[in-house]
Amino acid sequence: MPEKPRLRVGLIGSGFMGKAHAFAFTTASRVFDLPFELELHTLADATAELAANAGRALGFAHSTSDWRQLVDDPQIDIVSITAPNALHKEMSLAAIAAGKHVYCEKPLAPTVADAREMTEAAEAKGVKTQVGFNYLCNPMIHLAWEMISGGELGDILGYRGIHCEDYMADPDSPFTFRHDPTGGGALADIGSHALATAEYLLGPISQVMGDCVTMIPKRPNGQVAVRRVEVDDIGRALIRFASGATGSVEGNWIATGRKMQHDFEIHGTKGALAFTQERFNELHFYSVGDPAGRRGFRRIEAAPDHPPYGSFCVAPGHQLGFNDLKAIEAAGFVDAIAGRTAEPFNFKAGQRIQTLVETIQESSRTGRWLVV
Ligand SMILES: NC(=O)c1ccc[n+]([C@@H]2O[C@H](COP(=O)([O-])OP(=O)(O)OC[C@H]3O[C@@H](n4cnc5c(N)ncnc54)[C@H](O)[C@@H]3O)[C@@H](O)[C@H]2O)c1
Repeated sequence: MPEKPRLRVGLIGSGFMGKAHAFAFTTASRVFDLPFELELHTLADATAELAANAGRALGFAHSTSDWRQLVDDPQIDIVSITAPNALHKEMSLAAIAAGKHVYCEKPLAPTVADAREMTEAAEAKGVKTQVGFNYLCNPMIHLAWEMISGGELGDILGYRGIHCEDYMADPDSPFTFRHDPTGGGALADIGSHALATAEYLLGPISQVMGDCVTMIPKRPNGQVAVRRVEVDDIGRALIRFASGATGSVEGNWIATGRKMQHDFEIHGTKGALAFTQERFNELHFYSVGDPAGRRGFRRIEAAPDHPPYGSFCVAPGHQLGFNDLKAIEAAGFVDAIAGRTAEPFNFKAGQRIQTLVETIQESSRTGRWLVV
C-alpha cells in the first residue's frame, strides 16, 4: 500500500487541553482512515523544561520554549494552540502568516474584533482552521440534531441550555488567566459551549437579554496579594431563535457540586429531548405518540448506529469518553485539510460564538434586549 502523505503537528501548551490535543491526534489516526499520517513533531511550552518533559511524555520528537520557532518551522503543517486565551490571536496570526492550518482552543479570542481579524487572515491565506467546541462532536448531539431536523419533536417550543461547573466556586481559588478581562469570564469560558450547542441544534439565535454577574469580586493572587475580578462568574441570557423558538442559556463556573453540566432540554409539539454531559452517552427522548399511561422519557444509549461511535467500538453501551470527542474533532479537521469535508467548526464559527458572548454581555450592561 502506498504510504500516506504526512501532516506534522506543532502543539503550543501542554496543560489540560494540550494533552487532549496530543491524545486526539494520536487516537484519530488509529481510529479513522485519515488521508494523512499524523506526526507529533514539536511541542512548545512556556519554559524549556516544561516543553521537554511534556514533549517526551506525549510523544513529540522535538520541544522548544519559543512558540515562534515552532510556528516558523517549515516542517510543521498544523499548529494546535492550547495556551491561555490572551495568546490565541498573536499565535494564530503568526501561524496563519507562516501558512499553517490552525486548531485553536475556545474562546477563539478575547473580543469579536480579534476573532474577525483571525478569521479574515485565515481566509486570505487559504489555510484551514478549527476551534475546540468538542461537545458538538458527540454522536448523541448529532442524533439530537437529526431528530429535531427530521421533525420527530414537531415544532420546537422551548430550549434550556446550560454549562455549569464548580471549578471557581471556592472564593479562595486563585486568580487565573480565566479571570483576566482577556479570559472573558464564565460566559466566554463555558457558556460559549452552551451557545454553540444551542445554535447547532436549533439554528441562529436572533435576540438576547443578558444577565452577567460577578459573585466573587476578589481572588487571591500569589502569596498575599488579592486581585479584583471584573469578569462574570455567571452569565445568563434569555434567547430567541430566528426560527421563533425561545429559551435560555447559562454559563456558570461557581455551580457548587456540578462538574460537567453541559445540559439541554428541548420541548416540541410532538416530543422532547433531555441531555446531560455527565452521562453523555445517553439521550433521553419523550414522545407524545406513546400511548397514554406509558409515556415517559426513554433512554437511548450510544451505539454503533450513531456514527462515528462504531469506529471506536463495535459494542453498544460501552461508551465514549471526553478525549474521544477530541479525537473526532481532530479527525474532522484533518479531513477538511484534505478537502474531503468542510471545516466542522472554523474560525468564522468561533467568531460567531464570540459575537453572541459580547452581545449578551452588552445586553447585561444596558439592561435591554439586543438583536444579535
Ligand atoms: N475545549 C474545551 O473543552 C476546553 C477545556 C479546557 C480549556 N480549554 C481552552 O484551552 C486553553 C488552555 O486551557 P487549559 O485548561 O489547557 O490551560 P492550562 O493552564 O492547563 O494550560 C495552558 C498551557 O499553556 C502554556 N503556556 C502559557 N504561556 C505560554 C507561552 N507563552 N508559550 C507556550 N505555552 C504557554 C502553559 O504552560 C500550559 O502548558 C484555553 O483557551 C481554554 O479556554 C478548552
